[in-house]
Parts: sequence; structure tokens; C-alpha cells
Amino acid sequence: MMEKAKQMKHSKTEISRGNRDYGCRCPSKILRLFIAKVKNISADEVMFGMDELQFSPTELEQLEDFIARYESHEPVSKILNRREFWNSEFFVNADVLDPRPETEIIIERTLEIFAKDQAFDFLDIGTGSGCILLSIAKEFPKSRGIGIDISEKAAKVALKNKFDLCVENAEIKNVGWDNFGPQKKFDLIVSNPPYIKTSDIFGLDDNVKNFDPHLALDGGRDGLDAYTQLSELTPNWLKPDGKILLEIGFDQYDDVKNIFESKGFSLANVHLDFQKIRRVLEFTA
Ligand SMILES: C[S@@+](CC[C@H](N)C(=O)[O-])C[C@H]1O[C@@H](n2cnc3c(N)ncnc32)[C@H](O)[C@@H]1O
Repeated sequence: MMEKAKQMKHSKTEISRGNRDYGCRCPSKILRLFIAKVKNISADEVMFGMDELQFSPTELEQLEDFIARYESHEPVSKILNRREFWNSEFFVNADVLDPRPETEIIIERTLEIFAKDQAFDFLDIGTGSGCILLSIAKEFPKSRGIGIDISEKAAKVALKNKFDLCVENAEIKNVGWDNFGPQKKFDLIVSNPPYIKTSDIFGLDDNVKNFDPHLALDGGRDGLDAYTQLSELTPNWLKPDGKILLEIGFDQYDDVKNIFESKGFSLANVHLDFQKIRRVLEFTA
């Protein structure tokens, strides 16, 4: 009994001291998220009940681990294993790219192309967490989506998200685009492929280069490997009036446009991101 009381006291002292110390090590808003995860309660409950919270030594250890990871520039989403994208919260970990807000342009544009009750087939190439695939599938209940990824670990994350989000009209295949032999043709192909030049990866911010899988980033010597390969493969995968929506790097507009036009595609639209950068190219076959 005495021991338990001592431990509680210790925990309370630790966290109030910790709160002060942690406050210097990470912003209070983020600290609240970490505490919420450790205690399995909401961030609001943390905010309003902070003074009452008791922490076991194990919980304090976990909190310390989160803060240390934050200090080493691991993204908060990866520490918490969750990331908001479009209308859902996705499980993310070291095996997948942290979904980016600019990728939501692909969902926005898909909502302009198809009616909500329309039935169509679509393919997401390099699905990662499944954020594009599952967001489109959720928006269009009658659509049928396939997401492919060469990474077995990424495909497992996408599958977990499919089940967690209860999406039935999407399937995930662990296959590279060069080995994917689709059984049908698609009305829409979407992709946010790896597009960073190999030599640029080591100059990226720590939170990207140390925590996003390099397989998700590395676009080869000129950053254009994926586009070159996809421009050769996708004409056979699209229905005659099919469209392709491709995310590109900030300086890749001319190159990607030329690559796809040289394979007979027509550039139908260019979609800008929040910084007015040409971010998503829309081609027709
Ligand atoms: C930039 S990430 C995009 C992930 C997700 N679609 C998103 O937007 O957040 C690119 C994805 O392509 C996958 N990938 C890389 N090479 C591939 C290949 N040859 N075939 C299929 N997928 C590939 C990577 O594993 C990674 O998950």
C-alpha cells in the first residue's frame, strides 16, 4: 500500500515536472496528443483533466519515447500512427509515405469528373497507405478500385486501412506496376508515384528522408523513372475515354507532359496546389 502510494506520488511529480520539461521539448498541443495516446483518451480529455491524470512508470516511459522520437524529427503522424487525409484517418507507419495534403487534389478532381452515384473502375498505382484508393472508393460507393504497390509492407498497411475504414469496393494487390497484368480496363488511373531524384533524397528534410520509405520517394536519376514506365504501360490499361491523374514534383511539368504526349496522351488539365505549383496533370488516352 505504502509502495503504491509512493509510486503514485512519484508518477504525479514526474508528470508535472515532465510537463514543464516536455514543454521545452515539444509544443503543448503535441504533448497533449502524446499523452492522449499514452492514456488512450481524447486530447480534449487531456486538456481539461490534466491535473487529475496519473501516470504509471510504463506510461511515463512511453511518453518519454514519443518525445525523444519527436526530437529526432519523426513526424507526429508516424509516432501516433495516424494521419488525416481527405475525410478519413489513416493508419501510417515507417512502411508508407506520410500522405500529403496536395495529394488530395486527386480526390477533388475525381469528384468533378464523376457523379457520386456513378459506377466506374479505377486503379491507384503505388497505393502506399491506400489514402487515394480508399478516399475515392468511399466517395463513390458504386466505383470499383484496385490499388497496387510493390512493397509488401505498404500493401499490408493499405489492407489494414481498408478494413479499419470498412471499405468494400476496393482491393489491394502487392505487385509492381511492371508485373501488373490487369484483367480489365479502367475509366480512371491515379498515381502519386516516387518522383524525387535519387541524388536529391539526402538533401530532403530529416522528417522526410529518415521516416518516409525511400522506395516511396526515389524516382531514379532524373526523378522521372516512374512516369516513363507508366506512360508505356497505362495506354493498355485505360478504356478509350479513360483519364489519368498524376501527381508530379514542383519542377516536373514540362518533362512529364513531354513523356506522356510522346506516348500519344493529350494533356487535358493542369491542377495547381495551394502554392500555385502545377501539381496534378490530367491526361486522356
Ligand atoms: C509517393 S508514394 C505514394 C503513396 C500514396 N499513394 C500516397 O499518395 O500517399 C509511392 C508508392 O509507390 C510504391 N512503388 C514504388 N515503386 C513501385 C513499383 N514499381 N510498382 C508499384 N508500386 C511502387 C511505393 O512503395 C510507394 O508506396
